[in-house]
Amino acid sequence: MYNISNRIAVVTGAGKGIGRAIAERFVKEGPEGLALLDFDFDLVSKTAKELDPTGKKVIAVKCNVADPESVKEAFAKVNEVFGRVDILVNNAGITRDGMFHKMTFEQMHAVMDVNFFGVYNCCAQVINGMRERAYGKIVNISSTSSYGNVGQANYSASKGAIEGFTRTLAKESGRKNITVNAILPGCIDTEMMRAVPEANMKAILASHPMQRLGTVDEVANLVMFLSSDESSYISGECIITSGSYIIH
Ligand code: CAA
Repeated sequence: MYNISNRIAVVTGAGKGIGRAIAERFVKEGPEGLALLDFDFDLVSKTAKELDPTGKKVIAVKCNVADPESVKEAFAKVNEVFGRVDILVNNAGITRDGMFHKMTFEQMHAVMDVNFFGVYNCCAQVINGMRERAYGKIVNISSTSSYGNVGQANYSASKGAIEGFTRTLAKESGRKNITVNAILPGCIDTEMMRAVPEANMKAILASHPMQRLGTVDEVANLVMFLSSDESSYISGECIITSGSYIIH
């Protein structure tokens, strides 16, 4: 349905959860090349092998998105194998939940470093190549938590930062045929969500009009659309997918 047969894509945090679902979705459309980046190399290698046993189209690359040196090395590897990056999906993210009055400096920084500076570090590695070739698709995974969520001052701040960054990069990149969008998943059935205490989870589900969590595939479908030429006139948007839990 989507033609990405001449596109090289990179997905961060691709070992499991939403990142893995995005990788699976891309593979269904047959990209020219797909690089799966993750901090956990064993996990992402296993994922890459499951998606492409030949190892020719899908590669695994170790990358700590919070560390500019690690990101530089990872993208050097991608360029060595595939020659360029056309599509970048910044999905890597962590939580360190806690009430703000108890939140440590380390909890705040760990989340900002991975969630926001990870996006910055990866975009910095691809933006000049995309500008030179006058083609690029950047999709940043934010969260509905950017609207505020008890216990997530750090996470909300990091995701809000992604959204401002997305809008500005979109405006700066339009004349170079690069689209930059963010997706704000609501409560998606992932390991991250399963770590929420049971009592909170019950309250969360009760306030969902659809009475269910979203699936990773539902997020991946939107990522696929925004990574394809079908969405060529959509840029700078921060799009919610939460089954009407959050409407903005
Ligand atoms: N508003 C204000 N205060 C609240 C509150 C609320 N909604 N809920 C609890 N509190 C208060 C409590 O009454 C308590 O007050 P006192 O200290 O005065 O007694 C205080 O906050 C602490 O409550 P707890 O003892 O329950 O605190 P805790 O430190 O053990 O846990 C928490 C707090 C970390 C926030 C925990 O409740 C939690 O993990 N909540 C879930 C957070 C969440 O929604 N995470 C989303 C993860 S999924 C994700 O992030 C993906 C995505 O993109 C959406």
